[in-house]
Amino acid sequence: MEKSKRIIITIDGPAGSGKTTVAKILAKKLNIAYLDTGAMYRGVALILGNLPKDFDKLEEILSSLKFDLVYNGEDFSLAMNNKILGDEIRSEEIGFVASKVAKEPFVRKYLTAQQREIAKKHSLVAEGRDMGTVVFKDADFKFFLTASAKIRAKRRFEQLREMGFDADYEKILKDIEKRDKQDSSREIAPLKPAEDALIIDTSNLNISEVVDMLLKSIKG
Ligand code: DC
Repeated sequence: MEKSKRIIITIDGPAGSGKTTVAKILAKKLNIAYLDTGAMYRGVALILGNLPKDFDKLEEILSSLKFDLVYNGEDFSLAMNNKILGDEIRSEEIGFVASKVAKEPFVRKYLTAQQREIAKKHSLVAEGRDMGTVVFKDADFKFFLTASAKIRAKRRFEQLREMGFDADYEKILKDIEKRDKQDSSREIAPLKPAEDALIIDTSNLNISEVVDMLLKSIKG
């Protein structure tokens, strides 16, 4: 990629569509940074989880939160107030609180501003729910990955089993459907493809096939 011009590639889609894995590989192949915006909502949810009462203090807390990308010479990691966000934000519970927090207009406004600040400093593969529709409407390339809820639940089920966890397919499927509904039906920045996004159904594709499709579309 050209050094002088910053590029923005957006990948949106529901949980389990493969967007995180694809976004990371794509960013590496293009030698640019990867921004996981779901992790920002999860970071806010993590802080909220420690508060006794729901959203009361959220506005005040948000104003003291600063997100940035930290480079270790090999990879970019997302930091919240200079602390790298790790596995502590990855639980299903935090994901669900994140999805609730993400309905709050002032949270979206604040995180959108932070995402745009980060993009001033880096070329990005930005992954989330509203990257192509709201945050980076002028992105150079936009993709929307999807797959049936059943396939996404199966992927999550196998992933958990591989990690040695007990997993219940029916529960995972219900959770995925619940979160899809919450993310797609909210008033602000609902989960949907941008009009100019390339929509890819990953149900019958493996990760490298998806990455190849994206690369082909980018390189023309
Ligand atoms: O991608 P994820 O599962 O880590 O995201 C967690 C939640 O955050 C997701 O359910 C919806 C919300 N989210 C959002 O509303 N907008 C984004 N750009 C990214 C995530």
